[in-house]
Amino acid sequence: MTAKVLDGKAISEEIKAKIKVDVGRLKEKGVTPGLAVVLVGDNPASKVYVKNKQKACEAVGIYSEEHKLPEATTQEDLLSIVERLNKDSKIHGILVQLPLPKHIDSDTVLKAINPFKDVDGFHPYNVGMLMIGDPIFIPCTPYGIMKMIEHSGISVEGKTAVIVGRSNIVGKPVALLLMQKNATVTVCHSKTKDLDEVCRSADILVAAIGKPKIIKGNMVKEGAVIIDVGINRLDDGSLVGDVDYDEVSKKAGWITPVPGGVGPMTITMLLNNTLDAARRSTEGS
Ligand code: GUN
Repeated sequence: MTAKVLDGKAISEEIKAKIKVDVGRLKEKGVTPGLAVVLVGDNPASKVYVKNKQKACEAVGIYSEEHKLPEATTQEDLLSIVERLNKDSKIHGILVQLPLPKHIDSDTVLKAINPFKDVDGFHPYNVGMLMIGDPIFIPCTPYGIMKMIEHSGISVEGKTAVIVGRSNIVGKPVALLLMQKNATVTVCHSKTKDLDEVCRSADILVAAIGKPKIIKGNMVKEGAVIIDVGINRLDDGSLVGDVDYDEVSKKAGWITPVPGGVGPMTITMLLNNTLDAARRSTEGS
């Protein structure tokens, strides 16, 4: 079997076209959705992500501002910027790019963001709301994965889903979302015994480990849906996922490419969440 490509880029273009129309409608009512992105330090990957987020905002008419802070920024200074953005009525969404420098406690910063501006969905209030199935903001990468699956007409109900990686950003929330769609979910991590065997049981396999090409052809079931969240840069400069695409695409039913799979969907769901935040601000809820 040769896998069909889950084309995140194409799907995200369709969703962005709709977001652009909805942003225009909101602007006619006098509200321009606004996103503030806070970047601390010089992490090269973070710089690229932040730039891409800004370009995407511009393309759909969302106002965006970047707060670029030096590596040596104190936690106190960062918290006071977050506090200012919480009060700024032009700003409906606040995103503090992770990872933060080691001297800053990420949890403290994420908790300081107004949960109704927390377009990343990382504040404990939003994590809790997602947990009980009544989300305000769904974290962008897991949300993008679910949208891509839905858009491609892949059914989740009753399927065995295996997630490799248990991060707060991807692994845990995508497990909740798949469970809410009635999949039977297993979450694997660095201490999982017999990872290959567990992966082979998956009808839907989500790889979110951050290690290049560790999911091999012999680890997937014939016809499985493979979602590759990894973006790893090799020494030769090329980008590869956590999945060995050449091997796995010969066996899978569906597969996301890297780049052009989960990445564009993540940014698109950030736009979607910012639009939702702006809409909600007009409803006073
Ligand atoms: N770093 C890697 N992914 C993300 C994300 O989705 N949001 C934020 N804020 N930082 C990240």
